[in-house]
Amino acid sequence: MLETERLILRNFKPTDIEDYWEMVQMPNVGPRAGWPAYTEYDKAVERLEKVQCVTPNLFAIVYKPDNKMVGSIELMDCKVDRYSNLDIEAGAKEIGFVLNEKYWGKGIMTEATKAVLEYAFEVLNVENIYIGNARANIASGRVQEKLGFKVVGEVKNYRIWVDGTPTDFIERKMTRVEWLKNK
Ligand SMILES: CC(C)(COP(=O)(O)OP(=O)(O)OC[C@H]1O[C@@H](n2cnc3c(N)ncnc32)[C@H](O)[C@@H]1OP(=O)(O)O)[C@@H](O)C(=O)NCCC(=O)NCCS
Repeated sequence: MLETERLILRNFKPTDIEDYWEMVQMPNVGPRAGWPAYTEYDKAVERLEKVQCVTPNLFAIVYKPDNKMVGSIELMDCKVDRYSNLDIEAGAKEIGFVLNEKYWGKGIMTEATKAVLEYAFEVLNVENIYIGNARANIASGRVQEKLGFKVVGEVKNYRIWVDGTPTDFIERKMTRVEWLKNK
């Protein structure tokens, strides 16, 4: 478990289902992160059960003022095929996140990602962390920029954005040395 001023980052629990279902149905949430919005409650239950058991560094984000599960953030092995133009180091990790749309714009994901970076670099001693966003995903890019990730490449026409137009994938990275220097 990780804790910040406003957030608790912990494992998902079966009792998160109502908050999870609320978030995964949102048409502006999953599709911006590359997966379709859920339309069936049972599929959300199934997914929640699966992620609780098999995903080690996947955190449910609880917003303390509302005692509500509002998002998720994962530190995972870097999906090298996603960064196929880069020479990804062994042991590199990648961060992915989504937040309930009702909670956007309060600095929640910046706060959550900072806690995960601290954990990854200072507890797990990870050396390199990658993150990326569709160019059209301004909010995600801004979170990454605010935290100090540096642009290291891009993949042209990575995928079709939610408005139907092609969008590039902006690739960013932070090293442990940079984290320790800038914190
Ligand atoms: C990306 C996401 C997690 C951001 O979460 P958040 O808690 O709202 O982010 P924060 O509040 O910490 O920061 C968002 C920043 O983007 C800025 N922003 C958001 N939309 C913007 C826009 N259209 N134009 C310019 N800036 C924008 C905000 O002003 C803020 O920057 P600031 O602090 O300098 O003002 C959230 O929008 C989300 O869940 N999106 C859908 C899923 C997703 O895109 N996941 C990432 C896939 S790469």
